[in-house]
Amino acid sequence: MDLKSKIREIPDFPKEGIGFKDITTLLQEGPAFKEAIDKMAEFCKDRQVDVVVGPEARGFLIGAPLAYSLGAGFVPVRKSGKLPGEVVEATYELEYGNDTLQIHKDAIKPGQKVLVADDLLATGGTVKSTVDLVTELGGEIIGVAFLIELTFLDGRKKLEGHEIFSLLEY
Ligand code: PRP
Repeated sequence: MDLKSKIREIPDFPKEGIGFKDITTLLQEGPAFKEAIDKMAEFCKDRQVDVVVGPEARGFLIGAPLAYSLGAGFVPVRKSGKLPGEVVEATYELEYGNDTLQIHKDAIKPGQKVLVADDLLATGGTVKSTVDLVTELGGEIIGVAFLIELTFLDGRKKLEGHEIFSLLEY
């Protein structure tokens, strides 16, 4: 299936000059959603994955079904103030200002094999922070998987040393 044709591009969102890749049109079609997750799971077929970690919010939409498909656990990384237990946090830069992501301290056990998953790799700030949080807790990153990679933003540079899989490149 041509999965790119299922992703809607909205011009000038959230601001002028940005062509927003809207994955809701892919998610709402069962066969397209299934094929996308199946293909991402294929990337991990020869590796042990104990836990998939996905950042709020769109990372949940990809990470949770991927974890289910792999028979792995799922751990959410959330924006500040949302997780009820003890957390560790990482702050990363946005175009204007910065944002803080948190993970439960007891969500990853040292040595666990972790796949980080998100819908989109743009500048890489979100997933780099997610990788740093997992590493701080002693998790071993076995790979980083995206539904979409915006290659022209070169977010990969921030993830050097990690194996990256992206299903659809723009
Ligand atoms: C988007 C997207 C990725 C991130 C990619 O999330 O879902 O997580 O940006 O950008 P980056 O590579 O430049 O960090 P957003 O922060 O918009 O939050 P949302 O998932 O809650 O919409």
